Amino acid sequence: MQETFYIKVYGCQMNVYDAKNIIGTMERHGFVRTIDPKSADILILYTCNIRENAARKVFSAIGMLKSNRTKVVAIGGCVAQAEKEEIFKKSKIVNIVFGPHVYHKLPDYIHLILNGEQSKIIDVSIEKFNKFKETQDKNNNVSFSEFVTIQEGCDNFCSYCVVPYTRGREYSRAAKDIILDIKRLIANGTKEIILLGQNVNSYNGEAAYINIGASSNWKLDRLLYEIAGIDGIKRLRYTTSHPKDMTVDLMMAHAKITVLAPFAHVPIQSGSDRILKLMNRGYTAIEYLDKLKTFQTVCPSMQFSSDFIVGFPTETLEDFGATVQIANVVKYTVSYAFKYSRRDSTLASKMDGQIPEHEKESRLEVLQNSLSQHQISRNNSLIGQVQWVLFDKCGKRKNQYIGKNAYMQSVVVECETNLIGEFKDILIESAGMNSVYGKVL
Ligand code: SAH
Ligand code: SF4
Ligand code: F3S
Repeated sequence: MQETFYIKVYGCQMNVYDAKNIIGTMERHGFVRTIDPKSADILILYTCNIRENAARKVFSAIGMLKSNRTKVVAIGGCVAQAEKEEIFKKSKIVNIVFGPHVYHKLPDYIHLILNGEQSKIIDVSIEKFNKFKETQDKNNNVSFSEFVTIQEGCDNFCSYCVVPYTRGREYSRAAKDIILDIKRLIANGTKEIILLGQNVNSYNGEAAYINIGASSNWKLDRLLYEIAGIDGIKRLRYTTSHPKDMTVDLMMAHAKITVLAPFAHVPIQSGSDRILKLMNRGYTAIEYLDKLKTFQTVCPSMQFSSDFIVGFPTETLEDFGATVQIANVVKYTVSYAFKYSRRDSTLASKMDGQIPEHEKESRLEVLQNSLSQHQISRNNSLIGQVQWVLFDKCGKRKNQYIGKNAYMQSVVVECETNLIGEFKDILIESAGMNSVYGKVL
């Protein structure tokens, strides 16, 4: 009889990409996916450790998902990498702990547990490129929009962040492997490619063609030009960028490549230079603003999104005010604001001056109000314009479809024919806080 597996995924887009490959590799090994945890022999939780509540959720979820049928519980991803053996202590029913670099070995580990050869397995080794063999030449249920990881890990060590400890040190995949992956995806119907990495704009991958020469590693802009030249690609994006690595060459690529969305996620985190220094971000608020200004000069249609952290240790009301001010200057199209979360092993967790929870909450509310105002006015400014939208899901109402324009704004339309996976020109007629509404032209 074939064993069934259920997978639950937390965290960022890189986890979504990994999870798709985990599903593909499990299916190639004869396991059958189920979306009902209670009918699964194997439970896989692919986890995120970025903030405390993300990590905490995992342990309560195990209890809710398991049933009499559960034979194997596997915890993978960033919590696995960060907590290692501790996971076995926190939850006795976990059999496998696997880090984000070794999911290609999961089917073998599951067999060892099912056959009774072992009862607990832990693998948190950092094997840099092996897991990507699970994408090469393999079609994991190819979709019209696909993530492709080009770079993983991070050397920046922002003082609040666990990523360098969970995803390890930064490395780039070879350009030729990325291009092969993307060519295969496009040949199978993908229209939009989203390049992923913790720090994509520090991409520095082995060149596509060996005979270019020894010192021919490619930067992100070179890779973008090459991908944009692949026949059939309709839209190209990348995320996340670090402000300090945003080069003029990359800005130029936005001006020159028509399929590259004129949009970049460039997280500022804080508007206070004192806090940015404590965060170890490597730029001042003015340097950040100058980069965005240059970007808009080079490519006038550019718009930006950002992440913010409020309540970083020692953040005063004045520091916080500088953050709100930056948000008001840039007028981001989309933004994500978070309360600072104290993470083990990070430098900031040991800093004095931790901010009380209720104070973080009230600052978050103030910032979010301000970010929402800009989001609404950006949405309003689309009224009367035609936007090119890729539809990716159904709305709540009958015949309602929701998609994204180049700037990641949600566009809602009603249409008799199925629009999922289609690009359409949409005339925007009205706008709300989270979406704009229009009709198909
Ligand atoms: N590499 C990306 C971000 C990855 S994490 C970058 O540098 O921009 C995504 C976001 O989570 C970060 O931008 C930050 O805003 C937030 N984040 C990371 N660690 C956090 C923490 N300890 N508390 C609250 N938010 C955090
Ligand atoms: Fe974390 Fe900073 Fe690296 Fe982003 S750049 S992943 S915030 S350490
Ligand atoms: Fe979370 Fe790991 Fe992504 S900590 S945000 S899943 S890199």
